[in-house]
Amino acid sequence: MTNAADPLTLVLVGPMAAGKTSVGRRVARRLGVAFIDTDKRIVAAHGPIPEIFATHGEAHFRDLERAAVREALAEGGVISLGGGAVTDPETRALLRAHPVVFLTVSEAAVADRLRGGTRPLLAGEDPVEKWKRIFAERRGWYDEVASATFDTSRRPMQRIADEIVAWRREQR
Ligand code: S3P
Repeated sequence: MTNAADPLTLVLVGPMAAGKTSVGRRVARRLGVAFIDTDKRIVAAHGPIPEIFATHGEAHFRDLERAAVREALAEGGVISLGGGAVTDPETRALLRAHPVVFLTVSEAAVADRLRGGTRPLLAGEDPVEKWKRIFAERRGWYDEVASATFDTSRRPMQRIADEIVAWRREQR
């Protein structure tokens, strides 16, 4: 699982608004490695995610995402994936060689975090209901790729990040 050239790579997966970006940034800082957010990479190269979904469809977005994940893993560091990356079998296969942290969050905690968002899969009425359904559909894939699971519902993001750093150092 570990790679001597880049011993501290780790990947964060989990549903939308689980805190992957804010935890990931903190974990990377503590470990002294790069932080890569694959959604940000896709936006920088291809424009806003809602536009990609609207113009080219979700399948095209998953292709771009798979390529971004492959590139990020080759670079190494702390890598935060979009919530739906695990729906793609090839992306899941790419993750098998790496430590993967699954961030969970409760329905109660997520409601506040989803307010005012622009995620295309939650657009329209009742984003929390949509979030619940999508999380339930994907839960098995998160469990399949995860090497460890941390819940972000109630504790400060920095505490969670510290626990992940401690866990990652134990993996070496
Ligand atoms: C998606 C999650 C988003 C983003 C896109 C699709 C999903 O990332 O990749 O809107 O399918 O769950 P976050 O998990 O960072 O919101």
